[in-house]
Amino acid sequence: MKVLVVGGGGREHALCWVLARSPLLTKLFCAPGNAGIATLAECVPIGAEDIPALIAFARAEAVDLVIAGPEAPLVLGLADACAAAGLRCFGPSAAAARLEASKGFTREVATAAGVPGAAWRRFTDPAAARAYLRETGAPIVVKADGLAAGKGVVVAASLAEAEAAIADIMESRVHGQAGATVLIEECLIGQEVSFFALCDGETALPIGAAQDHKRVGDGDTGPNTGGMGAYSPPPVFTPALEAEVMARIIRPTLAEMARRGMPFRGVLFAGLMLTAAGPKLIEYNVRFGDPECQALMLRLQSDLLAALIAACDGRLAEATLRWDARPSLVVVMAARGYPGAVRKGSPIRGLDRAAAVPGVQVFHAGTAPGPGGEVLANGGRVLGIGAIGTDLHAARDAAYRAVDVIDWPEGFCRRDIAHRAL
Ligand code: AMP
Ligand code: GLY
Repeated sequence: MKVLVVGGGGREHALCWVLARSPLLTKLFCAPGNAGIATLAECVPIGAEDIPALIAFARAEAVDLVIAGPEAPLVLGLADACAAAGLRCFGPSAAAARLEASKGFTREVATAAGVPGAAWRRFTDPAAARAYLRETGAPIVVKADGLAAGKGVVVAASLAEAEAAIADIMESRVHGQAGATVLIEECLIGQEVSFFALCDGETALPIGAAQDHKRVGDGDTGPNTGGMGAYSPPPVFTPALEAEVMARIIRPTLAEMARRGMPFRGVLFAGLMLTAAGPKLIEYNVRFGDPECQALMLRLQSDLLAALIAACDGRLAEATLRWDARPSLVVVMAARGYPGAVRKGSPIRGLDRAAAVPGVQVFHAGTAPGPGGEVLANGGRVLGIGAIGTDLHAARDAAYRAVDVIDWPEGFCRRDIAHRAL
């Protein structure tokens, strides 16, 4: 099978890494890829959001499966364009991708399906939103309805902070049109878990959970990021909790999406809060998490390609996946300045030494090959240092041993990944 992976981050490197060992694979392409992916796949210089160029390439190469990494191409209709071109695509239609593109849509679907979540209200009028805030008080959560690069959520500790969020999102439109509608939600308290299920429209196959580290600094301080590290499985997420999440959150959502004529095919990523009253849905994403994907893929023993094809073809009920029981962990190395502006082009050395640490796998995120074959930083999140170990301490120690032999003065990482579990 010829496969085209769309995207060029750490998540896509991890996907390419497991796909490359599939006995079904004959050729792997990645658009646009990165310096690490280039060792496994033929990188194609097409942007992940250039749908017409991706379709033209996939047709010209007679690709058997297109796999979407990030949400943006899905929201833009990659899966629909593939279907129209007779190409198989792993990922939801644009209609089903609204589970990520519109938080209000997600809350509507979840409420209709009886999924446990925060109490919520939706507003298009800032005055009405402010009046509601005065009723609820703080803490309270204010969210831009649309996609805002992970920055559209304000967990407000005070009423003043919540009112400022209304002004920024609805009036100053700091996230553009994404802020034309806001959601105001009850503030849920508990531990957050990222949970993933492969879906074929009808059947959902759980593929595990991970805990992410959103804040840039040690001890969960500083601004929010795309994720500075992850580990899997989180000890708090017991098999009993997983069964409850499948029964009360994932399966009812799939059934409601099918009932609405927009069956969900792809990876459903549920952001969960483990509250005192049980697990509650915070939000959905329609793709693998980054860096959660790297942590999951480190533990996968079965053939991912066969499972993704089963999901595309509506045969997930027959599929099973085997996982390494040992835990995995990923430490993200980012360029100084991240999540703000960063300088690109600094050289990264010592990657071979890092990869030689037992149990370690180095994933590239924002890298590009330099003219002399060296690896250059090319983004905010640059590397994901993954490790698997007999226990979480061993995995963490291996990952940080690898971090410490990487020679990249312009980079930094958190030193406390998995602190909640350790
Ligand atoms: P997002 O950018 O949509 O991933 O959301 C950012 C973060 O906001 C989530 O990971 C949670 O930590 C937090 N959050 C979102 N909604 C709520 C809520 N209703 N209660 C508490 N925290 C929330
Ligand atoms: N790490 C969180 C995300 O991928 O959205």
